[in-house]
Amino acid sequence: MTSRKNTKHITIDDVTAREEELRLAADILLSGGLVVFPTETVYGLGGNGLNADAAKSIYAAKGRPSDNPLIIHVAAPEDAERYAYTNPLYYKLAEAFMPGPLTVILPKKENIPSSVTGGLDSVAVRCPAHPVAHRLIELAGIPVAAPSANLSGKPSPTCAADVAFDLDGRVDMILDGGECEIGLESTIVKIEDDGVILLRPGGITYDALCMISEKVTVADAVTHQLAENERPLSPGMKYRHYAPTAPLVLLSGSDERTLAFLQAEQARTSCAILCYDEEATSLSQKNLIPIGKKADLETQAKRLFHALRMADNTSAEIIYAHLPPMEGLGLALYNRMIRAAAHTVKYV
Ligand code: TXA
Ligand code: MG
Repeated sequence: MTSRKNTKHITIDDVTAREEELRLAADILLSGGLVVFPTETVYGLGGNGLNADAAKSIYAAKGRPSDNPLIIHVAAPEDAERYAYTNPLYYKLAEAFMPGPLTVILPKKENIPSSVTGGLDSVAVRCPAHPVAHRLIELAGIPVAAPSANLSGKPSPTCAADVAFDLDGRVDMILDGGECEIGLESTIVKIEDDGVILLRPGGITYDALCMISEKVTVADAVTHQLAENERPLSPGMKYRHYAPTAPLVLLSGSDERTLAFLQAEQARTSCAILCYDEEATSLSQKNLIPIGKKADLETQAKRLFHALRMADNTSAEIIYAHLPPMEGLGLALYNRMIRAAAHTVKYV
């Protein structure tokens, strides 16, 4: 880490009214600096995707291993053409889901430095829907390389305060666009032959992909722990992301048994609980973090990462949460939580 930067914090409540600030942010990107910006998934730590040094600054600011490639963000789906070799299935996916929370892995063109792609010959392309992200990329006129704007190993930030906690002094500017709509990182797919491989589930669900592509395969690493010697299709999947300091244990069992277990644990030990809203009145309020109604996966997705940060801020010796269902948006929650829990599930 080089010297501490004087990070500018700017709130963008209205893209049109804040055009001047967004131009300033675009100029920072063009001169090799780092700007954190909101997207509909999570906040991104942006740099110039055509500049190898900017990519190195991103890795340094995050404390991230440089073999874990970055996503490049474009203002329009067809801009992918400049940086990657597209195909008809890419355009079918783009028509259905872009701008939005979908990232597509394509063979890369020469102009994208290998430091951006962690040495791979493919590049991840995403066209975000958030108006601040969109206007910033458009004004900069470059692909904006951006991982999630957290320190490596921490949950992705879904509000500017969580960004500032991790990155104040490490980036040139933080654009505050409020709370992220989805709260989990984008769905990542790789196009292969006549179908897609789902590498990371997110706001675009498996079922939604099946409406567009005849063949959708879910990569093993989405739901299972890889063996020591296995190479994941996406380098990021080998890291134990999103890990709180206290061990996280996921509970599976009937509503009654789970609640009884949690009540007993609260009496026995100092634990933090990511509970369903319905349970909140039946549990002690100490270190209790409601993450939404049991059936409301959207709210749970939106609150999960901040809830993990809150749980980490308590002095609890253990954190409990529910094992999510694997259907719909549940698959994305399951993927993030099972990894944060290092695959620890307790059947009660
Ligand atoms: O929603 C999102 O995708 C956010 C926002 C900021 O756009 N970004 C994000 O980036 O989550 P990051 O760097 O935290 O996660 C990107 C993931 C990593 O797991 C990385 O390994 C994978 O994408 N990835 C990037 N390029 C790849 C490639 N060429 N082949 C396979 N996986 C790739
Ligand atoms: Mg990340």
